[in-house]
Amino acid sequence: MSIYRLHEWVQRRAPFFLIGILVLISFGGIVEITPLFVIENTIERVDGMRPYTPLELAGRDIYVREGCYLCHSQQIRPLRDEVERYGPYSLAAESMYDHPFQWGSKRTGPDLARVGGRYSDEWHVRHLADPRSVVPESVMPGYAFLARTALKTATIQAQLIANRRVGVPYSDEMIANALADLRAQADPETDGDVLAKRYPKAVTRDFDGNPALVSEMDALVAYLQMLGTLVDFPSLRPTADFYR
Ligand code: HEC
Repeated sequence: MSIYRLHEWVQRRAPFFLIGILVLISFGGIVEITPLFVIENTIERVDGMRPYTPLELAGRDIYVREGCYLCHSQQIRPLRDEVERYGPYSLAAESMYDHPFQWGSKRTGPDLARVGGRYSDEWHVRHLADPRSVVPESVMPGYAFLARTALKTATIQAQLIANRRVGVPYSDEMIANALADLRAQADPETDGDVLAKRYPKAVTRDFDGNPALVSEMDALVAYLQMLGTLVDFPSLRPTADFYR
């Protein structure tokens, strides 16, 4: 029987045709679903990733509250122009502790996934307070009130616990010390090693330049300055070499 005759035969018998269709489309499902049962994790682990420090987490919440994600993405795609402009492309693991993630879908301003360490704290404070004082053509709104507003810390422990519930590996020790760690990170007088032991690479300093107040600006700048700095890439310099 030729293939055409077989086709005709099957097509004229609805039950066979139906079974044939089901068998065929199930291949697509099997190919997509089976690997998920076999692999341990859909996110490849990378060295260096750690949960946010309490101060960074508070800063991240301000980032979300102010809607920074409406103008900024945090996802460098593996395309040559993006990698040359922003640095090594983003890895899934880099947003594994983000609930919700901040990939964004619009870039009125530049991607921020690797903005950490690119500017000084003073630059960020000036830029956030009055963007046009440092970038005259900027269309970014100013957030001067952040430097005047005391950071609300009453719920920081609960925030860590909430994140732990959805899978962020905060230890009991981290949760117990949440408030102390938050205050310590914004205070240049404290011994940064204690914090860095719990949160590797965490920097301790007075981010907003005002030692009298732990402000929302402190938290936001602490967050911005750590973005993209946790994972060591073979070449931190954003060049095409990254592809070789
Ligand atoms: C209306 C859109 C808009 C919003 C909302 C916005 N930005 Fe921006 N942002 C921009 C634009 C445009 C630029 C580029 C010009 C400049 O540097 O000011 C920029 C630049 C930046 C830069 C410098 C990035 C670089 O690589 O040079 C940072 C950091 C930044 N924004 C942080 C924030 C934060 C934090 C928030 C929320 C508190 C925010 N932005 C809200 C539009 C926005």
